[in-house]
Amino acid sequence: MTRNTDSRDASASPSERDASDGENWRSSAHLRTDGAGADSAAGADEVALDPWGSSSVADYRKLFEEFGIAEFEELLDSVPNPHYLMRRGVIFGHRDYEPVAAAMRENEPFAVLSGFMPTGDPHIGHKLVFDEIIWHQQQGGDAYGLIADLEAHSARGLTWDEIDQHAESYILSLLALGFDPEEGTLYRQSANREVQDLAFELGIEANYSELGSIYGFDGETDVSHMQSVVTQMADILYPQVADEPKPTVIPVGPDQDPHMRLARDLAARTRFFGVTEAYASFEATEDERELIAEAYAALDGEAARTDADRDTVRCEDIADWLREHEPAPEDERQSAMEKLDAAGKEPVRPRVRLLDRNATEEAFEALIDAVEGEKRVYENHVDTFELTRADADELARQVELDHGGYGFLPPSSIYHRFMTGLTGGKMSSSIPASHISLLDDPEEGYDKVKSATTGGRETAEKQRELGGKADECPVYELYAYLLADDDDEFATEVYEECVGGERLCGGCKEQAAELMAEFLEEHQEKRDEWAEKLDELDIELDSDRARR
Ligand code: TRP
Ligand code: SF4
Repeated sequence: MTRNTDSRDASASPSERDASDGENWRSSAHLRTDGAGADSAAGADEVALDPWGSSSVADYRKLFEEFGIAEFEELLDSVPNPHYLMRRGVIFGHRDYEPVAAAMRENEPFAVLSGFMPTGDPHIGHKLVFDEIIWHQQQGGDAYGLIADLEAHSARGLTWDEIDQHAESYILSLLALGFDPEEGTLYRQSANREVQDLAFELGIEANYSELGSIYGFDGETDVSHMQSVVTQMADILYPQVADEPKPTVIPVGPDQDPHMRLARDLAARTRFFGVTEAYASFEATEDERELIAEAYAALDGEAARTDADRDTVRCEDIADWLREHEPAPEDERQSAMEKLDAAGKEPVRPRVRLLDRNATEEAFEALIDAVEGEKRVYENHVDTFELTRADADELARQVELDHGGYGFLPPSSIYHRFMTGLTGGKMSSSIPASHISLLDDPEEGYDKVKSATTGGRETAEKQRELGGKADECPVYELYAYLLADDDDEFATEVYEECVGGERLCGGCKEQAAELMAEFLEEHQEKRDEWAEKLDELDIELDSDRARR
């Protein structure tokens, strides 16, 4: 991502800047590292979410609008003891995280899993994900960390020697940062037979043209690269087969969102039964159901009040009500009214419907038997009159599990911002000065911070007068993402002092550089301690694969 230059800043209208400022930052630290206002004003509208391409995001707002990623801030209050990356808006988005937050609140089982391609040394960008896994583990989640070696080999062309060399390093940093291997699970894709079996099964649900349109695959894409996609699908769902179906969060960068969408789809496609709500024997769409619900509520209420001849509301009554009250434009009501007219005198009765999607006959029969209370059985569905939607969901899942199905819940995800490179631009493993490796000598880390780009003014005088631009400063980002750790007060202090002109870049970088050196030293000590104990852990680190 290119940093905003002053001239591009100036081109952003005040309202655009305000809109993006107010968007999704907690006010505490005022983090805003995407330069959304300025970039969009400059016409940068390319947001491509490409897992194997260059992962930069010009405008995070587009991710909400175009891809349906939800803003994390909206559910921050429902997360118990949120992590500082959540509080500071570094974790900016999510897909369906509510069930995970609910499980944390209610002490119900949940899981966290993420994976790493061992393409180089782990760096401070990976630390964000390590921390996210560890935090969820500390909140009581079943935690999984995996080495995506099949993906690195097929999609990135790394040799097994290179992969072996880096794989251990990721594991050591994850452990050094606090992952508990006794409670959690670490694995390599290539060594996990269950994952590969699951990948094979999930591959049955996806076809070539679908992968082509999601990932831009074409006739030149090799088969193993495609296999690495279904392997990742299996990774994502693995916590639910290793144990039982449960809410699972996958912390990743937004470049991985295409994988999340596909995983959620595949999870749904394997399900035996669908659960919907209905008012009569016919199938209605969601929109039609809403109209019917509205009419039914009105008519049912009326009947109760007047004790009129309408103790039974019939389908034709609903159609009449819709014609009379016109709660939506004619064309939107049309299909509902047709179905209702066709059903005529059939009484309207709210029900929860269980549909047979992929079940065996035996499983469907078992489901029918398991429904308690009044029910009506049709060829491909059973209508239940005494079950709530949640009960029906639970029942369907249980019968599926009893009959050899997976019973998957759709996996959830959270998305963190990409860190800006220390030299400006994006942080990239291939540009050593742009990032700090977790294996950098502390002095080297110190030097890299000292020579980082800042959001400072040309002169100290100007800085005192105008304040620094912390929002555009990679050094401030280091404080917020890493160096300030859990200390919000410290992060805010750096920010306020910077923008208030009390903090000058020289001293600020010196402080950051020292903190970075300290962090690296401590981290590497812990890595060394784990390296000694590594063979006690149950993880296979050397693959004995062909050396190519
Ligand atoms: N594709 C991920 C990457 O590029 C690695 C990965 C493999 C992964 N399996 C995963 C990430 C499962 C999250 C969940 O780094
Ligand atoms: Fe960045 Fe610190 Fe300079 Fe502010 S004072 S611009 S935070 S280096």
